[in-house]
Amino acid sequence: MLYSPEIQLISPKQRWQRLSHPLLVQHRIQLWVCHLDTLVPEVSGNKWLKLKYHVQQVMQQNCSGILTFGGAFSNHLCAVAACCRLLGLQSAAYVRADDLDMANPTLAFCQQAGMQLYALDRTSYRQRDNPDFIQQLQEKHKTLLMVPEGGSSDAGASGIAELNLATTPEGDADIIICPTASGGTLAGVINRHDCAALGIAVVKDTSLPQRVSQLLTPESRTKHWQINTNFVGKGYGKFDEALLSFCREMAQHQLHVEPIYTGKTLAAVFSLIASGDIPENSRLSVFHTGGLQGLKGLHYRGLITVSDLALLSGSVAG
Ligand SMILES: Cc1ncc(COP(=O)(O)O)c(C=O)c1O
Repeated sequence: MLYSPEIQLISPKQRWQRLSHPLLVQHRIQLWVCHLDTLVPEVSGNKWLKLKYHVQQVMQQNCSGILTFGGAFSNHLCAVAACCRLLGLQSAAYVRADDLDMANPTLAFCQQAGMQLYALDRTSYRQRDNPDFIQQLQEKHKTLLMVPEGGSSDAGASGIAELNLATTPEGDADIIICPTASGGTLAGVINRHDCAALGIAVVKDTSLPQRVSQLLTPESRTKHWQINTNFVGKGYGKFDEALLSFCREMAQHQLHVEPIYTGKTLAAVFSLIASGDIPENSRLSVFHTGGLQGLKGLHYRGLITVSDLALLSGSVAG
């Protein structure tokens, strides 16, 4: 694949954390959280794996960088910006927003990293997968490689499939669980493993199963996987006090999660255990997909306090 000192810096290290909690003891469940830590926090979790084969395509096709899409608080945009800056590549993004608010910490980070940002109103943004629209943008940005929202393409799923999430330090997992938004992470998990895979939908998107299916390899089509849509709540990025306090409780267990992706997923897992939908004596592997930068955006919008920002992101002892 790619060898350079910068890529060594980005490449994540896998770390397993076993969560201890009375509910898990009661149901005799082993819950392992898989972390992917890197020296560049914006690309930790699922981010570098989704980007690595896109970066390879940039190099093979002699492109000058990456053009992508995302919301105004997108972890993916930060990851692309950080990765491109480190590798000396150009980056550009179409942001789902009427105007670019440069006081928004996510966009400010992207801009400082040299990313060229363009606002795209919601209606136009919906065309992001439309081939004609993509063609038009490609004409405009001839030297940039187009990466879909969330990095969810065959290349993105291939990167994720390099991660062994099934072999926990105490044996094989019965179920691998991950947050699911644009689908590339779950598709990569399914392509890699033979055990059951469960995606917790964090967006209201009825096309999600189809998006995942499109990224599956032919031999994965018959595998045992599922997307649970019962925990989206009021929608993408929305959370209530109960979920926030669950994230605080996780921080007390030295597990730092935000309420949009991994926190929402873990809360769903706890709920499925409590309701008996996850069988007793199961060993679970939950992918911590990163995204802690998003906490700054929640604080910026007044959705969490400064002390929650510090507690959940782990910048003070939980
Ligand atoms: C932190 C985090 N976790 C999980 C996901 C969901 O992954 P996917 O979009 O591949 O379904 C995302 C979005 O890309 C994310 O930013």
